[in-house]
Amino acid sequence: MSKITAAITAVGGYVPDYVLTNQILETMVDTNDEWITTRTGIKERRILKDKGKGTSYLAIQAAKDLLIKSNTDPKDIDMVIMATATPDMPVAVTGVYVATEIGAVNAFSFDLVAACSSFLFGMSTAAKYIESGRYKKILLVGADKMSSIIDYEDRATCIIFGDGGGAVLFEPNHEGLGVQDEILRTDGAGRPFLRIDAGGSILPASDETVANKQHFVIQEGRTIFKLAVSNMADVSEMIMNRNNLSSDDVNWLVPHQANKRIIDATAKRMNLRGEKVMTNIHKYGNTTSATLPLCLKDYEKEIKIGDNLIFSAFGGGFTWGSIYLKWAYDGN
Ligand code: ACO
Repeated sequence: MSKITAAITAVGGYVPDYVLTNQILETMVDTNDEWITTRTGIKERRILKDKGKGTSYLAIQAAKDLLIKSNTDPKDIDMVIMATATPDMPVAVTGVYVATEIGAVNAFSFDLVAACSSFLFGMSTAAKYIESGRYKKILLVGADKMSSIIDYEDRATCIIFGDGGGAVLFEPNHEGLGVQDEILRTDGAGRPFLRIDAGGSILPASDETVANKQHFVIQEGRTIFKLAVSNMADVSEMIMNRNNLSSDDVNWLVPHQANKRIIDATAKRMNLRGEKVMTNIHKYGNTTSATLPLCLKDYEKEIKIGDNLIFSAFGGGFTWGSIYLKWAYDGN
């Protein structure tokens, strides 16, 4: 029997309607469109405003988009992996709720939490289950309601993040298409640089933590920026070398969308022209676990069967890595 590889066979995505522009942010904090655009590449981001709707809502919409587009029966899905940094609630598993709501009644599900690398690590996980031969259809959803953990009085973070969801379906392939290689890394020394201090087991919620605004993201941007640039570029270059891929062989870079300057630096090290780099940070900001699948959704029509894609991400923790995947279908 030929070797089983794990191919992406469908893509879906969703962003909420409300558009938070740089101009609106200018009225909220001491910032300006020019600073945000030149430092980050972001012009606007989407925010889920509806009360009572959390990350699962974004995930369900993204998954439904995929199911409808690909004419997939949710009952055929074996497993739902929910990549997120903002679960609906700390205990009831978000992915389990998502699976049930989309009708994936025969699937088992869990959440995978790895900050901005959640989706990348989810790709690796999904691939292993497919390669085992035991699972035939795995839905990987990446969604984050970042607005639920952002302080809209902190200009260091509120300009960056947005809400969104994306989904891909993994299925077995016997022609060698799909995931080819991966380099995944973590380093706990990153803990102080990107964190939420309260609401976890170390510092549970109290009147004091709320008063001190300790339930919001704190980010030391400059440190993360430097490490994101060097590490994303390192692993992307490494995976190219390991697989004998020249810059001509790489059709697409699918980079985590944290900062346009980080994306450009990674592409430069890989010697890739701008048109090979998937980018949507200008319209969505950093949607954390949703950036990679939302890129695939936006560029799906342009990707061809056999194209070589390099996925690359860096996030809190620290967590980072790169995955090399051969695309399995013609987008149009
Ligand atoms: N508007 C105007 N001025 C600002 C703003 C703002 N929104 N924010 C900061 N400034 C000021 C600072 O106060 C500083 O002023 P000073 O020089 O007088 O002190 C100056 O601009 C430069 O500040 P830096 O923080 O050095 O700006 P930098 O160029 O590093 O950009 C940014 C900040 C955009 C946050 C960048 O560092 C970055 O993108 N970091 C990486 C983020 C990232 O990749 N995160 C990981 C993924 S997220 C996850 O895992 C969930």
